[in-house]
Amino acid sequence: MFYPFELEKYLEDLLPPRDELLLEMESVSLEETIPVVTPTVGNFLELMVEISGARDILEIGTAIGYSTVYLARGAKKTGGKVLTVDMNKDRAERASRYLERAELGELVEIHSENALKYLPQVKKSYDFIFVDAAKGEYPEYLDLISPLVASGGLLVVDNVLFRGWVVPGSVYDSKYEKMVSAMRGFLDRLYHLPGFKVSILPFGDGLAIARKY
Ligand SMILES: C[S@@+](CC[C@H](N)C(=O)[O-])C[C@H]1O[C@@H](n2cnc3c(N)ncnc32)[C@H](O)[C@@H]1O
Repeated sequence: MFYPFELEKYLEDLLPPRDELLLEMESVSLEETIPVVTPTVGNFLELMVEISGARDILEIGTAIGYSTVYLARGAKKTGGKVLTVDMNKDRAERASRYLERAELGELVEIHSENALKYLPQVKKSYDFIFVDAAKGEYPEYLDLISPLVASGGLLVVDNVLFRGWVVPGSVYDSKYEKMVSAMRGFLDRLYHLPGFKVSILPFGDGLAIARKY
């Protein structure tokens, strides 16, 4: 993490206590090294769905459904629904079971397919799109997703600061070079997308939030 771990922990400690289900999902993701959003990011996602009043929500990268629970809790308040996509069938099935346990199953449709194949077939637009899948594919997602954001809608993207390594001159293992340069390219394109206004929030691993006008 590029900003003090203590700061993220402090922000996390300010949050209301998380229920047993979210805590169980956090332990599972830690034990199995399945990357999921931090609780501060989850809280932000739920709040943003609520504030924006989003009803049609799309998530790319479900994993076991941790961030989906937050999105769906927001959707419950707006009368909305979540469609979430993950190419890993086992994770998608586990997410489905967690969402049933969270009593959110009816609000969430899980699609197990490669987003790069699935997105070109999507015909409707979404009020809120959350992207948290393969970092090296972010530039491709942007091309496919930007036309799907409804006018006035939001695009939120996780890990955009990628441990701070997007900053020129950062030192990191060469195996990350492809992902770092994809993320830099993604940010450059996002900031220049016509019709979008963008801001970056540096908590978690860095979140981009973009509004389409
Ligand atoms: C970081 S995890 C998602 C974590 C989840 N958003 C959360 O915070 O609980 C990324 C997920 O994206 C999925 N993924 C990666 N590339 C994908 C693609 N091209 N299409 C669909 N899913 C993809 C992986 O299978 C993985 O489960």
